[in-house]
Order: sequence, then structure tokens, then C-alpha cells
Amino acid sequence: MTRVRLPGLIDVHVHLREPGFTHKEDLASGTRAALAGGISTVLDMPNTSPPITSPDMLLAKARLAAAKAVSDVGLFVGATADIDAPYAACAPHAAGLKVYVNETFGSLRIESLPALMRIFQRWPGPGPIAVHAEGVALAACLALTRLYDQRLHVCHVARAADIQLIARAKSRGGQVTCEVTPHHLFLTQDDLPRLGALGYMRPTLGTPADRDALWEHLDCIDCFATDHAPHTLAEKQGENPPPGVPGLETMLPLLLTAVHERRLTLDQLVERLHYNPARIFGVPIEAETWTEVDLDARYTIDNSMLLTRCGWTPFAGMPIVGRVTRVVLRGQTVFEDGRVLALPGSGRVLFGALEECGASA
Ligand code: DOR
Ligand code: ZN
Ligand code: ZN
Repeated sequence: MTRVRLPGLIDVHVHLREPGFTHKEDLASGTRAALAGGISTVLDMPNTSPPITSPDMLLAKARLAAAKAVSDVGLFVGATADIDAPYAACAPHAAGLKVYVNETFGSLRIESLPALMRIFQRWPGPGPIAVHAEGVALAACLALTRLYDQRLHVCHVARAADIQLIARAKSRGGQVTCEVTPHHLFLTQDDLPRLGALGYMRPTLGTPADRDALWEHLDCIDCFATDHAPHTLAEKQGENPPPGVPGLETMLPLLLTAVHERRLTLDQLVERLHYNPARIFGVPIEAETWTEVDLDARYTIDNSMLLTRCGWTPFAGMPIVGRVTRVVLRGQTVFEDGRVLALPGSGRVLFGALEECGASA
């Protein structure tokens, strides 16, 4: 048994589904899954129902999180095409601005260039503009980042051309960071016959060459992030399966397995799950907050061990080396030996989102 302590880990891309889709996940079940996965802070996405696009909505969600969350939670706000840019007033209290340039789950979508220009012009920061943008849409966002002197965070990079483009932008001094998900690092289109709709997400799984390009550009990847996007098994196996897979409980075990296989060092892991996320999104580093892992534990991922409400993972059956044994948040043991010990509401809401700045209530 080799037990190692890692500093508090941050997942910068999760969908906790509240409000509107709590049959898939909610702020309690999702943050419990985070702790079980060794993650003490999550940044939550705004594509809920209704979507989080104004100070009133941000405050309402912050209050729900304050009552229910067991991990710390920061909230993204979503960009809309509105002329008066209601999301901009949320800026001081949001993790960043999420812009959906390509089609995916939910109603938030920016389809026109004038709307995209307005968003890049209006967002005041300090959080970055985080984009779901692939291919040509990514190239457009990189150009707008420079033209409007913004800071861009590219979500879930999944294709060789996309990571090459980001590497090029960085080498030319672009204010650009990016994240890559475990599913794009550990799965490819070759897994689809086995996984069916359980392997469907946006961006879709790439070719083995895409996956290899991501590993080859490890230096260019600032964060690992799950894009934890739970949907029920019935929805995934139904007529029109929605895109998305859960990831909170499997990311760290998969990455620790890569460490065991010497594809990654523990320092590279900690940089991408702690230091870089904290710097890019301004997440406060908490004292006495850490995750303990057993680097030697061997087991197979099984749906029965999951706390996420959706109850399945595309990684079921994968052999793993590395287990989360304990999570400590501000001196309190919040997860130990497979059990969540934290009480609902013990997680903090970040960026002062509980303050009423700009909210009308
Ligand atoms: O697969 C995805 N699912 N990609 C996204 O961008 C959204 C997410 C979701 O919310 O289900
Ligand atoms: Zn996305
Ligand atoms: Zn997402």
C-alpha cells in the first residue's frame, strides 16, 4: 500500500443538472460523487432548465448549492444572444462565461457571428470565456479572443486539429487555456460498437490518432476535467439518446492508472487538477484540504460502486490501479473508505455568488 496526499483537486467542468434535470443528478448527489472521486471543488455548467443566464438565476442556484452541496462549488453563467447581455452582471460572482458555439445538450446556443462578437465585447471578466467550440468554431473563438483582448478557456478538446490549433495560438502569445476529458484520453471510436449510446457525447469520441495527439500535446493541456454529464440509462438507451457521460468518480482512478503505467507523472496530474485550475479560474486554495490516494490498489470499475444518480459509467469493466481513500476539506474528513461523511450544505459556494450583487430579489 502506497498512500499519497494530493492537494485539493478541482474539476472545472461538471453538469450537476439543477434546476430542471434533477432526475439525472442534483447538487447533493453530484457533489457526493465528486468527493467519492477525490474532487473537493467543482465548477458547474449553466445549461440547466431554465439555464443560468442572469444575476437572479445565479443567486437562486447559489442558495440551492449552499443548502445541498458537500463539496465546494463555483457556478458558470451562460451567454445568450440578448442585446442587453443579462449574463454580464453576473461576472464578479461567476467562475466564467460559458458559450455554446456548437450544438449540444440544452437550449443555450450562440449561432450568429454578431451575437458571438457582442459576447466577446461585453464580458467583463475576471473569469475566462469558456467555449464549447470545435473545428472552425474554435478557430473563430481564437480570433475573437485576440480581437477583443479576452481570455479564452477551451472546453473538452477532442481532435488532433483542435489541439494543434490551440498549441499554435499559445505559441503566438494567445491568452488561451484548455482542458481535456478522460473519455477523450482513454476511449475512441473503436469503443463505440461495445458502448453504443453510452459512448455518445459532444464532442464525440475521436479516432485513435486524435487520442494519441492529445497525449502527445500533454504540455499544451492545462486542465483535466470530466465534463461530468449524467443522463439516465433509460434516456441513453431510448429513441433519441442525449449526449453526455458521467465522469466524476472515474477521472482520478483512470489518471492514477496512467501514472502507474508511466504515461503521466503525479506532478503533471496535480498541475492539471489543482494548480492550473486554481490559477485559471481564481479558485481559492483552502488550508487543510487534500485527497489521499492508494497508488497500489487494484480493482475493476463497476457501476455498483457509483454515487452519481445516473448509476452507470462508460468505463465499467476497466481495470484500475489507484484508489481514493480519503478526502479532507478544511480539516474535516468528508470522504473515507467509500463513504461520504460530509453533511449537506457543508460545501462552500465560491466567488461570492451568495451575495445579491445585481440580483433583483
Ligand atoms: O456530451 C455533452 N453533454 N456535451 C456537452 O457539451 C453538454 C453535455 C450535457 O450537458 O449533457
Ligand atoms: Zn460542451
Ligand atoms: Zn459540458
